[in-house]
Amino acid sequence: MRTIHNPRELQELALSVRGSGTSIGLVPTMGALHEGHLSLIRRARQSDEFVIVSIFVNPTQFGPNEDLDRYPRTLERDLDACRECGVDVVFVPSAADLYPEGFQTYVEVGPLASRLCGASRPGHFRGVATICLKLFNLCQPNRAYFGLKDYQQYRVVERMARDFDLPLEIVPMPIVREPDGLAMSSRNSYLSPEERAAATVLFRSLEDAARACEAGERDPQTLAARVRRSIEADPLARVDYVEAVDPLTLEPAASLPALIAVAVFVGNTRLIDNRLLEAPDSS
Ligand code: PAF
Repeated sequence: MRTIHNPRELQELALSVRGSGTSIGLVPTMGALHEGHLSLIRRARQSDEFVIVSIFVNPTQFGPNEDLDRYPRTLERDLDACRECGVDVVFVPSAADLYPEGFQTYVEVGPLASRLCGASRPGHFRGVATICLKLFNLCQPNRAYFGLKDYQQYRVVERMARDFDLPLEIVPMPIVREPDGLAMSSRNSYLSPEERAAATVLFRSLEDAARACEAGERDPQTLAARVRRSIEADPLARVDYVEAVDPLTLEPAASLPALIAVAVFVGNTRLIDNRLLEAPDSS
């Protein structure tokens, strides 16, 4: 496994690998790798001949009062995990290399990016789309893998790939959960033991909505209200948003299928999760 810091060196290598007809799989990450990331890497290892993992805590997707400075950085452990998964190249660029002085061009994201996390975190998806486009240009992937915990991110990046005619496939991958249902996230490490226990309320309330749906409740807004009520009942949880949206447009859903998407502060830590609800007979 090679670790490459220099973007030009990585791009030269990627161009020659892709030019030789070898397929490249990219797993873009901000490090602090967990089983969710590893599931993407293993899938890339199965589908692609050459696997690149990028590790870069991207400053342009963090707001001024967010956790850029304290975001967990565990590079040595991440490199070990990548080695064990058979990764070919780990790309670890610096912010100065990716955003040198004079940098001024950003992807302008559309309505998909304006709701949900886009409303709570202005500029977030502009930063995500911009870094993803840069990583795609540097790594030349045939496929790039994204976890569905960040459902909106997947939709925004997939839309950008289509709108900009990027020659790659954006591959969505299922949410990986802890045994008690909490969606894996690098930010889970911020939680105190009490908060960690309370954090399962996201999963529990989404499961409860799925059961209500199976039992016959088909109105997405009623189901979302039910999720909101059960999260609000937890003293350690504060709802940022709970919304039932159309899975394609992310506009409020009037009927199933609907994605129930939640963002919740547990203590100071903002967690997200989601669940797709379909009418049982529509599957
Ligand atoms: O999901 C993430 O970790 C980040 O948003 C990504 C896709 C690596 C871009 O910085």
